[in-house]
Amino acid sequence: MRTQVGIIGSGPAGLLLARLLHHQGIDTVILESRSREYVAGRIRAGVIEQGMADLLREAGAGERMDREGLIHAGINIAFDERLERIDFPRHTNGKVVMIYGQTEITHDLMKAHIDEAACIVHYESPAMRVEGFDTETPRIVYEQHGEQKELVCDFVAGCDGFHGIARKSIPADKIKTFQRTYPFGWLGILSDVPPVREELIYANHERGFALCSMRSHTRSRYYIQCEIDDKVENWSDDAFWDELRRRLPPEAAENVTPGPRLEMGITPLHSFVAEPLRFGRLFLAGDAGHIVPPTGAKGLNLAASDIYYLSRALIAFYKEHRTDLLDRYSDAALRRVWKAVRFSWWYTSLLHRLDGDPLSRRLQISEMDYLTGSEAGRTVLAENYVGLPYEKFE
Ligand code: APR
Ligand code: PHB
Repeated sequence: MRTQVGIIGSGPAGLLLARLLHHQGIDTVILESRSREYVAGRIRAGVIEQGMADLLREAGAGERMDREGLIHAGINIAFDERLERIDFPRHTNGKVVMIYGQTEITHDLMKAHIDEAACIVHYESPAMRVEGFDTETPRIVYEQHGEQKELVCDFVAGCDGFHGIARKSIPADKIKTFQRTYPFGWLGILSDVPPVREELIYANHERGFALCSMRSHTRSRYYIQCEIDDKVENWSDDAFWDELRRRLPPEAAENVTPGPRLEMGITPLHSFVAEPLRFGRLFLAGDAGHIVPPTGAKGLNLAASDIYYLSRALIAFYKEHRTDLLDRYSDAALRRVWKAVRFSWWYTSLLHRLDGDPLSRRLQISEMDYLTGSEAGRTVLAENYVGLPYEKFE
């Protein structure tokens, strides 16, 4: 089998790339290890920056998002029994974010790509390795129905997430990685109850961090910081709701509507970056190249900015026989990645119970008092939260 761009992984990164290339008449084949139902059912992030929303529209998958997504013009920060709002448009020249679940985005991209445009995604077809990425005909070796097969490509996009094989196909002396594991996790619940407040609440509490988020006016998503080795089995629904309420200021706590879980899970927190993101004709994008802790909701949005740069570079190659943007992909994508890695690390350190040391906590409270009380501080938070601009790439 042969294609122009072979894509490993049908998460948001792989699907978005395939859609954008298809619009320019460039052929792709996506190989995905899981089933379509499994990929469609995964529950993940839910805050979309404007840059990503624009890309989804360009990919022909923005219609339902524009109809059903919630526009949020601010977030709330709770600390020391206070609740402070950060107004995005006021500090960012009018920017906002969109609340729309990754589950819905994946659904919309699949519908556009597979059901409407009849493009090729091979599910239950795990890639095993990438070969020949230093040649003009890189190959993806994969398995399908128990048989080993080969997809010959002009280019390979490794969009196969953190545990994928694309990054692992690269010899250790050609790649540098940076990583940190945080000493706590997030216990999350999804429930069909109305959200506590119209906008998100990020709460720093001495018992630990709490986050009130949502997917719609009738579906809430909440998280509480937990021990790194905690287990979902340790938590009843009632215990979760009680602990959430304890960590919120009174006016928010009294608005919590408890309900049965649709899902409950524990997320570990990591920062990870691989450098570079390009190896000959193999490109890494999204979680395959970098991971951030979820505080600030940057993971999905970084997958989108990588795909912005990579799609432009591949389109310039096929339409104008240019290779300069392919050469610049890794540097351009990584500059934005590192800024989001920094923001997510900083925002995580600001909001979580770190070591139980009273001095650390007083410093956090003082920093939040400063940030929310100063124009400059509010601007730092707002402009990072809505998403730093994509750099000019043409
Ligand atoms: N062969 C084929 N597919 C693979 C392989 C493999 N060897 N290994 C992993 N995959 C698939 C996974 O099953 C998954 O569907 O690659 C896909 C990667 O998708 P994501 O993990 O969703 O990663 P990405 O598309 O980069 O999306 C960015 O943002 O909110 C964050 O982490 C969250 O998923 C999110 C991410
Ligand atoms: C979510 O709704 O899942 C969410 C929102 C904001 C975050 C992280 C996760 O910072």
